[in-house]
Amino acid sequence: MPATAKALVLPVKQGTFVVKDVDVLVPAAGEILIKVIATSLNPVDWKIHKWAYVFKEYPAIVGYDIAGEVVELGAGVTDFAVGDRVFGQAHLERHRGSFQQYVVALASNTAKIPANITFDEAATIPTVLTAAYVGLYNQVPRGLGFDSPVTKEARGKYAGIPIVITGGTSSVGQKALQLAHLSGFSPIVTTANPKNTEWLKSLGATAVLDRSLSHDDLIKEVKNLTHGKLQYVYDAISSDETQKLGLDLLADGGKVAVVTPPVITSTDTKTVIHVFGSVRAPYNIALLEPLYHDHLFELVEQGFIKPNNVEVLPNGLAGIPAGLERLEANQVSVRKLVAHPQETV
Ligand SMILES: NC(=O)c1ccc[n+]([C@@H]2O[C@H](COP(=O)([O-])OP(=O)(O)OC[C@H]3O[C@@H](n4cnc5c(N)ncnc54)[C@H](OP(=O)(O)O)[C@@H]3O)[C@@H](O)[C@H]2O)c1
Repeated sequence: MPATAKALVLPVKQGTFVVKDVDVLVPAAGEILIKVIATSLNPVDWKIHKWAYVFKEYPAIVGYDIAGEVVELGAGVTDFAVGDRVFGQAHLERHRGSFQQYVVALASNTAKIPANITFDEAATIPTVLTAAYVGLYNQVPRGLGFDSPVTKEARGKYAGIPIVITGGTSSVGQKALQLAHLSGFSPIVTTANPKNTEWLKSLGATAVLDRSLSHDDLIKEVKNLTHGKLQYVYDAISSDETQKLGLDLLADGGKVAVVTPPVITSTDTKTVIHVFGSVRAPYNIALLEPLYHDHLFELVEQGFIKPNNVEVLPNGLAGIPAGLERLEANQVSVRKLVAHPQETV
């Protein structure tokens, strides 16, 4: 194992990203060291950079999606072996970001990659799946409070219960649609560019409304589809507009889950849920460890959870900052940007 390897480092708060050598971490008990073959970009990465989110100390390494090979086991790890292909979500800790060539991760938050997907595809899954899963299946007020469909008994449990997932083509929205389908919700209504309708239906949407319709027209369409009784919205975009839309779509007693800091507030009759899709948030651990450790391999192998479309960025870690700028400028549509840290020059 090399003593140092390359990482994309944020040297100071809101500074300029730089590729440099950092110490390769040694896995502690319960952890594994992973050679990162692919990592994907999330909007939170540019938000951390621009808005000085998350880290109190610098230098820090950003990046949350890990797909790679196990190269070293910490004490007590028995369910992984060196050479296993694995994927998972990095911690929100400054040395543990995925924009580096080697990263440590908790074995209990890591899954093996089934043979039907590539490293690139695996890297598109963890963070957005975590956000969708927590938002649907954690208890109120951390999620909408449904039973998770990882067990066969809970599959299809919510047949006849309508749900709206705004922004079905977003990476979070795609995962929320797939999970809602597994849970059996019906109808599953989403908003998107109509050119993606057939594809969104293949992920589980039963109705796709044109995202360019006005606020009032979207409310009218959803009322028709849900007979005015909508109780659940998962807002996978959570712009100011979509959050307001989500609240207005609900009938009394309803709940809307948002994935960015809320600009709407709960009322006497409607509840706003703020989703925080971190694997190590104390209130997520009991829900997420079984997902990653026991179920994710099969859900992906059996096609219930599908990866996103992939666009691989050039130049390894050095290509990431330009990708983050494209994400910030809303120039990435229906795909996930992926980087190969080992190809850093
Ligand atoms: N809370 C958490 O734990 C957590 C975790 C992950 C992400 N997030 C947040 O979730 C949001 C989505 O992230 P992401 O990675 O899924 O984003 P993304 O994949 O980059 O989203 C881009 C897609 O969103 C669609 N879109 C944009 N505005 C829309 C609107 N008003 N209505 C419908 N569709 C719209 C675009 O559609 P077109 O193709 O039509 O342009 C595009 O396909 C971000 O704000 C992110 O920070 C939160």
